[in-house]
Amino acid sequence: MTRSGEENTVMHLSREDQEWLDGTLDQIVKKMEAVRERNAEKIPAVAVKGVYDDRADQSIEWDMDNGINWWTNGFWGGIMWQLYHYTGDQRYMEIARISEEKMDRCFSMYYGLHHDVGFMWLPTAAADWRLTKNPESRKRALLAASLLAGRFNPAGKFIRAWNDNVPGQTESNRGWAIIDCLFNIPLLYWASEEIDDPRFKEIAMLHADTVAENFIRKDGSVRHIVEFDPVTGEMVRELGGQGYAEGTSWTRGQTWAIYGFAISFRHTKKESYLEAAKKAADRFLSRIPADWHIPVDFDQPEDPHIEDSTAAAVAAGGFLELSRMIPDRAEAYRNAGIRLLKTLAADRCDFSPEIDGILSRCTGSYHGEKDREVNFVYADYYFIEALLKLKGCDVKIW
Ligand code: GLY
Repeated sequence: MTRSGEENTVMHLSREDQEWLDGTLDQIVKKMEAVRERNAEKIPAVAVKGVYDDRADQSIEWDMDNGINWWTNGFWGGIMWQLYHYTGDQRYMEIARISEEKMDRCFSMYYGLHHDVGFMWLPTAAADWRLTKNPESRKRALLAASLLAGRFNPAGKFIRAWNDNVPGQTESNRGWAIIDCLFNIPLLYWASEEIDDPRFKEIAMLHADTVAENFIRKDGSVRHIVEFDPVTGEMVRELGGQGYAEGTSWTRGQTWAIYGFAISFRHTKKESYLEAAKKAADRFLSRIPADWHIPVDFDQPEDPHIEDSTAAAVAAGGFLELSRMIPDRAEAYRNAGIRLLKTLAADRCDFSPEIDGILSRCTGSYHGEKDREVNFVYADYYFIEALLKLKGCDVKIW
């Protein structure tokens, strides 16, 4: 039993892997003791030249890209809670609460909020409630779950991703759902479990069913955005989203599916979610390059070669999670998870305390001009979470 009161499975590791894992976690804790103090008052998202930015500022209510509504704003708190749980050091808790409290402003910025409330409040408020029973945190997470449930489209049985007022949005997105939302719906599972009200879980499962049916292609590759008719619910088309093009395989989207469906299976035990996760996982495995560095899109041209270490970190967590669920693939998935983590640790990590950000070469989207091969706070979150999962002492955030 761990500090969160949850049962965790310790994975059997060779002595060499155990030493590597303990050594890597030691380096991260040493680094984060310095990084957390420099950034205690910030909500970091991207590190530029080794210095984290701050998304805590918000001047425009509908702007979801640059400020307090940014979808990754929960991950700094998430790192703090995972390391608080791992080390018992109260300072992590204090810093996690600074960003959790700052994010309260989002609740009065309705236009800029979106479906990513799961990414934002599961690693912050829900984690705080889980670990410390802070009653204010429970309220925040339940409010966020209610906002997410309110985005459900009953005709198409999907959760709408964004609002029409997103800067740069030129067409209606009332019928758009995206694969990433598989990491938001765990907030709905949490709410149903927390207040014993089935509505939230039912919405989550209706959405997950729609995604399983419409996002996973026959070959196991995954669509990023699918548009449904918001009135009839019919599927209209797929969009390339953050990948190279329509019909290609955006790697981070593939990992949201692998790990996301595994989480839905954990909460519901519905077999079709496990099948969807396995299909996406086996496709991902079949396309990993020889050097195990993950491109932004498996179908991108050879030149320029752009990587996304975030996809590698999320995939690692997904493979480790799935290895506990599918006995006949346990070894293959466990080995894949470990190899992805070891490759990142050897080639893409900066453990020096003077530099903010651990994982390099993280990319937002293939065609995006900014956030190309930079450091992302959420990449570091998933890397740390996967290492702790391997160690058997992660907080079950999702
Ligand atoms: N959730 C958006 C992304 O993966 O970039």
